[in-house]
Amino acid sequence: MPRTEPIKAARGVRDILPAAIPLWRQAEQEAAAVAKRFGYEEIATPVIEQVELVERVGEQTDTVAKELYRLDKRGSQNLALRPEATAGVVRAYFEGGLNQGPQPSRLYLIGPMFRHDKPQKGRYRQFFQFNVEAIGGASPGFDAEVIELALSWLNDVGLQDLRLELNSIGDGKCRPAYLERLKDYYRPLKSHLHADSQLRLERNPLRLLDSKVPQEQPFKADAPKITEHLCDECAAHWADVRRLLDAAGIAYQLNPYLVRGLDYYTRTVFEFYPGGASGQQDALASGGRYDGLAAAEGWPSTPGVGFAGGVDRVVELMAASGQEVIAKPAADVVVIPDGELSIEAAEVARICRAVRSVAVDYETRSLRAKMKWANKLGAKWVVLLTPDVAKRRAAQLREMTSGEQTELDWVELPTRLA
Ligand code: HAM
Repeated sequence: MPRTEPIKAARGVRDILPAAIPLWRQAEQEAAAVAKRFGYEEIATPVIEQVELVERVGEQTDTVAKELYRLDKRGSQNLALRPEATAGVVRAYFEGGLNQGPQPSRLYLIGPMFRHDKPQKGRYRQFFQFNVEAIGGASPGFDAEVIELALSWLNDVGLQDLRLELNSIGDGKCRPAYLERLKDYYRPLKSHLHADSQLRLERNPLRLLDSKVPQEQPFKADAPKITEHLCDECAAHWADVRRLLDAAGIAYQLNPYLVRGLDYYTRTVFEFYPGGASGQQDALASGGRYDGLAAAEGWPSTPGVGFAGGVDRVVELMAASGQEVIAKPAADVVVIPDGELSIEAAEVARICRAVRSVAVDYETRSLRAKMKWANKLGAKWVVLLTPDVAKRRAAQLREMTSGEQTELDWVELPTRLA
């Protein structure tokens, strides 16, 4: 039975078509270049992880509770598509023995992540991240370093008008007492809170601070601020991070309501926004310190800090700011057989590929139509084969801009095209 409707892509996922690829490649190449300039090495981890690992990101977070793509149970393992890369990179750091090498391990990863979120502009179900992680380093120097790296990347792809928001959310030592204060503050207001926020009040009260519910906004102003309740160690770290950023000339805004959507953060958290925009949805890059994550995964307690940049959003902004990478023609040379000469055309193409990219027009259509196609492709040269010339193992080489045409032996083509 023929289908009445053609099959389309799944909701919330996108194709990156050839014309869009150059801008994507540029964003990724700049990411790799800046990471290398800072001494970070590339790592690749699987897009499938055990659900157990992924849950370390935080069972109370939407990323795990609602947005996880769980796969069917396979044997004894519950698997899921990774919603983010940090948990997997930390796992790989131990499993691959990087913890035995020089510390910290400076790692970067570029790849797809999967979240079953409501699709909208800038929010996709498969999206790409540029992840940077410094694992095994406790010094605030690393916090400032990854922030500087993120900023350098955004600048290198041509984005200048940016806002960096910064906060510290303490650690296991000082945060529990702060959370009690926060709960005490919000409890009398409970009946005014949205149903989701009422649940958060007991389970994940920190998230009340980045609530987007309009009726809850006025309550934030008087809520206790965590930076005023840090333990001495966290307060010293927080002061150092800001000192380092000041010294680097990196401007930031302190945002006491910035708490991040994942549970593993300790101390520094930050987000980069395009200048002017606000709201989580528009963050171009975000991250922070995660000193408790390794232990939560069952590995020896090890500090770490990093961020992930959203490549989709960055590419969209690059395009919106008029940036364009002129796409190179798919092939420099087009071989056009005029007649039944597919074997000869394939051989000539093989010869020319030693020096140039080559496409062959195998279709049976008029010479005029074939020349038009070569033009559309943006080819610099056409190698024209006609039966009598091909018999002599020769061809007409046409330079497309000048229209100049010369007869050459096939073996002479590479030197002429080089
Ligand atoms: P995240 O804030 O969940 O953090 O994501 C990082 C960035 O990925 C966001 O700032 C945004 O640009 C992009 N992003 C997130 N979700 C989507 C989506 N649905 N569609 C398009 N872009 C999206 C993390 O993932 C942490 N692992 C970052 C990190 C690394 N923290 C420490 N190290």
